[in-house]
Amino acid sequence: MNKILVTGGCGYIGSHTIVDLIENGYEVISVDNNSRSNPNVLKGIEQITGQKVKNYKVDLCNFDDTFAIFQENTDISGVIHFAAYKSVAESVVNPLMYFENNLVSLINLLKCVQEFQIPHFVFSSSCTVYGNPDEIPVTETTAPKPAESPYGYSKQMSEQIVNEFTKSSGIACVLLRYFNPAGAHPSAIIGEMPVGKPQNLVPAITQTAIGRIPKMLVHGNDYPTRDGSCIRDYIHICDLANAHTLSIQYLEQGKNSKPCEVFNLGSGNGVSVLEAIQAFEKISGIKLNYETGPRRSGDVVAVYANNDKAKAVLGWKPLFSLEEMMATAWKWEQRLKADETVFSGQSGELN
Ligand code: WQD
Repeated sequence: MNKILVTGGCGYIGSHTIVDLIENGYEVISVDNNSRSNPNVLKGIEQITGQKVKNYKVDLCNFDDTFAIFQENTDISGVIHFAAYKSVAESVVNPLMYFENNLVSLINLLKCVQEFQIPHFVFSSSCTVYGNPDEIPVTETTAPKPAESPYGYSKQMSEQIVNEFTKSSGIACVLLRYFNPAGAHPSAIIGEMPVGKPQNLVPAITQTAIGRIPKMLVHGNDYPTRDGSCIRDYIHICDLANAHTLSIQYLEQGKNSKPCEVFNLGSGNGVSVLEAIQAFEKISGIKLNYETGPRRSGDVVAVYANNDKAKAVLGWKPLFSLEEMMATAWKWEQRLKADETVFSGQSGELN
């Protein structure tokens, strides 16, 4: 059974990916300092899969602690690196924190991958590397524009670091450019748990609907789009998770035509903020309490994916619709509220 090290394994995408990896026959260990996640998520993973997953509560910015994990696990056959800060808005306010955390952790990890000759590396990148693209949908060869936020710049720089690393190390890598992850595992046992006030649209919608926040703000309705609100490509978290398993299998089978392959992971559908709200209202029967406010600094006007390459090369098949993303997100939010005993009432913190 091949062992995969997942960094950020207690996070939203990391936890769902661990479930998919286990369901596809992998052994998994996690590294997560829980600065923005909760280790109890691993109980949810065990409830779904029956497997206990060990988490090393280590900050990847500490090289010695990171190195020790690899010394203790000499049978790691692949690494999937999620652990990073990812709020566009927060990065605008605190750029140095984003560059330090996201780049130092990556470099430390790659040094260990090289030292222990781990053959396969999958990196969590982002559609924010495209900046405000001239043409949409974007393909993997769409020339990146200047990023719109320090978060986006950290991902652009990270991709360059991984690219140069593959040339010098000969270690095969895959860069996965996520669009907008949304929804939750259909069991509602794991899902997105923003720490504090949610930055992302879908948890902001569900927390407003459940009453955890009084009113949602639509950040701008004067953009040059069909209804004035920003357009994004929402992709179900389980579809996104499966793409990581397929990427590891792709590398294990030696199918990569070059040392560093890039894939867009989006549904291929552009959806505006107002359309996303309408989709939620349709599946929930709830009229969402929101008002329109000023534009949010760092926001891209419109971006969505051409996902043909991931479908053709990885054999990836995104299954969930926008309505199913909203329905699973809503079911998860309702569970968070119902199980106050499990969750301390503060979103993202479990007892
Ligand atoms: C989407 C739209 C907001 C909250 C995300 C991830 C990032 C990367 C790209 C993976 C924007 C609007 C939001 C709210 C709103 N993914 N919005 N009111 O900024 O596209 O970035 O996808 O790496 O990591 O964070 O996502 O959900 O924050 O915003 O109007 O309360 O929803 O202005 O137009 P974003 P988001």
